[in-house]
Amino acid sequence: MLFFYGCGEENAPEMAAVPEQADDIFTDREWSVIRRLSPLPEIPPNPTNRVADNPEAARLGQMFFFDTRFSKDGTVACATCHSPFHGFADVEATSLGAGRGTRNAPTLLNAAYNQWQFWDGRTDTLWSQALAALEGEVEQAGTRLQYAHLIRQHYAADYETVFGELPDLADTARFPTDGKPGDLAFDRMSEVDQHAVNTVFANIGKAIEAYERLLISRNAPFDRFVAGDTAAISSEAKRGLKTFIGKGVCILCHDTPTFTDDEFHNLGVPQGTLPEDTGRYAGISLLLSDPFNGGGVYSDDTAVATRVLNFLEPIPRHQGEFKTPTLRNVALTAPYFHTGEFATLESVIEFNNVGGTGGNFVGQRERTLEPLKLSEQEKADLVEFLETLTGESPPAHLLTKPNLP
Ligand code: HEC
Ligand code: HEC
Repeated sequence: MLFFYGCGEENAPEMAAVPEQADDIFTDREWSVIRRLSPLPEIPPNPTNRVADNPEAARLGQMFFFDTRFSKDGTVACATCHSPFHGFADVEATSLGAGRGTRNAPTLLNAAYNQWQFWDGRTDTLWSQALAALEGEVEQAGTRLQYAHLIRQHYAADYETVFGELPDLADTARFPTDGKPGDLAFDRMSEVDQHAVNTVFANIGKAIEAYERLLISRNAPFDRFVAGDTAAISSEAKRGLKTFIGKGVCILCHDTPTFTDDEFHNLGVPQGTLPEDTGRYAGISLLLSDPFNGGGVYSDDTAVATRVLNFLEPIPRHQGEFKTPTLRNVALTAPYFHTGEFATLESVIEFNNVGGTGGNFVGQRERTLEPLKLSEQEKADLVEFLETLTGESPPAHLLTKPNLP
């Protein structure tokens, strides 16, 4: 419809125009591959979270995201490691929260597209991922009982608007002020009361997910290029794109509009001084035993999630596999790989180019990964290309700490 707006051809908006191919270096076959990478579609619905797209829930989730009271000692929030001013990732190789972690913090921009969360995919929704961070020993290290009381004291009205009535937590003999499964205080509670606390905990995660679903970054120079603006990226970047889909074989795994196949691969990234890490292998068992997974009682729709979970098995092939990360906004989120040991995009590309560097990692490096024999020019062009994947920032009001009650 937009296409017919105005009278002359020169008035037709660029987005609606057929891509201009005059000055470009791509064959029709290459274009058919490139069009698989752009534009970024709408985020998929998440039926396991009934408030996933509820604006009130998102407003609440933004408060939780920045509120350091959601931690054992009151000093750590999600934003501590996922800085809005560093592409919602961490400048540090491995993050410092309640403790020092052993993996690099990924970006949250466009995380709503991920089928799996964490490098090992040990959660299958954003809401259950948030719960793992809230109680994780090296992240926020608090407990669900602590958080439920925090909701009662500071967020009761807003919570009830979105989720309905809070359980009556005032009786601390029934609902101790601190504890999670494995702690006597929690384990001694009746099953009904445990379920009530778990429900509040799950809802905290669901509000955070509603906020994270707004952290979408689209319309990168690369997208404008694919939409027909031939000047949106440099000729170096165009050559880099050609290498990306051709000789570099990056497209094997980074092959969708989010630049990830949502799969797990063993690239043989060395652990260095970090502890041994089996990645997806352990991740599958953790996911299947997680009471907050998409197939569990706290999920608002178990049908699809259960079908997917039924396919998963912790077989040895998954040893040392890690999730293919998105490459959108990758220029903003150094350092790289699950270890955070690679400081620059150049170093990541060199690692791929030589076909892995050996060193200590679990399992077998994927056999298809041969040395690429890229020239210096081709490597530099690839970096130029990756830099065209930086999209527009989400709206400013989502980047700052709101007033907390
Ligand atoms: C102490 C630092 C730290 C804190 C605090 C923290 N995270 Fe993270 N986050 C990480 C690290 C490190 C990873 C990767 C860990 C892994 O894969 O095992 C991660 C992974 C994630 C992922 C998965 C992204 C992906 O692509 O796989 C999401 C989503 C996320 N965090 C959201 C949150 C939310 C929401 C909170 C607050 C409830 C939070 N994080 C708190 C460090 C942190
Ligand atoms: C076999 C699948 C596969 C291929 C081929 C592949 N990648 Fe990746 N890529 C991954 C996986 C998996 C990771 C994460 C590995 C890890 O941390 O252990 C990754 C990580 C990255 C990262 C780091 C991103 C971050 O946030 O840490 C960049 C950049 C990257 N790849 C670019 C490329 C480029 C450029 C090529 C082509 C030269 C390429 N990849 C080829 C699967 C692949």
